[in-house]
Amino acid sequence: PGTLTPADRLVAWYDRHHRDLPWRVAPRDRRAGIMPDPYRVWLSEIMLQQTSVRAVKPYFAAFVQRWPRVGDLASADETEVLGAWAGLGYYSRARNLKRCAETIAVAHGGIFPDTAAGLRALPGIGAYTAAAIAAIAFDRPEPVVDGNVERVTTRLFAIETPLPRAKPEIGERVAELTPDARPGDFAQAMMDLGATICTPRRPACAICPLNADCAALATMDPETLPRKAPK
Ligand code: ADE
Repeated sequence: PGTLTPADRLVAWYDRHHRDLPWRVAPRDRRAGIMPDPYRVWLSEIMLQQTSVRAVKPYFAAFVQRWPRVGDLASADETEVLGAWAGLGYYSRARNLKRCAETIAVAHGGIFPDTAAGLRALPGIGAYTAAAIAAIAFDRPEPVVDGNVERVTTRLFAIETPLPRAKPEIGERVAELTPDARPGDFAQAMMDLGATICTPRRPACAICPLNADCAALATMDPETLPRKAPK
């Protein structure tokens, strides 16, 4: 008590500076007990895998309007789903999306599993997506590591090992950082910090909520991290 952790500082920043995204429940509402629809969290995470937030927004809106629940997507015509996906690319994602919706509708009564392990067993849901849905939709303290979080974490701990070799250490560090209170907002805060402050070029370290914790800022040029192994 009395000692703020990096996670505390980050989540306090997120309360004030979070991005308003159509699949997101704002931190004020989550703190009042309102949780996001797992279907919307899942759909957004699949769409965001290889596509930017900006490009995803209109597709996400069209999908939830046309197919409001996972059962609607399960019983949809596959050709129509692929048509609505057109432009997002990586069509295997759309086929897996349909298969996953069918599995949830038929084998799970239309209810999403509420653990990372349960989610990981579904078609098209890998380790990242399972952790993201478990944290964001169900407040499970899972380490959620996407490209933004890799950048934030390698800088915070001055991890100079190149990617992809640094991935295990990054995962351990994120697991240590992840709080038992509000893990879903913590995960989303890491993503927002990476997208808006801890950017690949010219990070805004002067206004970063973790600047007092950041090992890279103290010892080197944070912009040089993460290192990448030569191809
Ligand atoms: N990128 C991947 N998942 C995201 C999310 N839930 N919010 C914002 N950006 C993301």
